[in-house]
Amino acid sequence: MRSRGKSCEAVRGLVEDAQDLADKGFSPELLDVALIAAAQKMEHFEIAAYGSVRAHAEALGLDKAVKLLDETLEEEKAMDERLNKIALDEVNERALEAEEEQDDDQKRPARAERAAAGNKPSSRAKQE
Ligand SMILES: [Fe+2]
Repeated sequence: MRSRGKSCEAVRGLVEDAQDLADKGFSPELLDVALIAAAQKMEHFEIAAYGSVRAHAEALGLDKAVKLLDETLEEEKAMDERLNKIALDEVNERALEAEEEQDDDQKRPARAERAAAGNKPSSRAKQE
């Protein structure tokens, strides 16, 4: 059965933003961070939307709809918390470590060049 619902421009924009992340040139670790953030934006949007509809349903005395929307809201909140936990427990730290390793790799050639240049006194040695 085909949905007859109207498509939502906001959701379409969130999906496009998430799809565009792949073209940003992020490291795989940073892409994971960005994708989790994008997924959380979607969850927050859903929580706001379902929360509003739930409030309307309650005001109209639609008890069955309120019950279903409560279940849906709990699922959305649980997913947001799960994404948050994944980010905080693993993904963010992994991205920081990867960025630090990349920074170190970029500094290594400079150190190697200094070493190859011989025993020139360091700037620190000049001060002593
Ligand atoms: Fe969701």
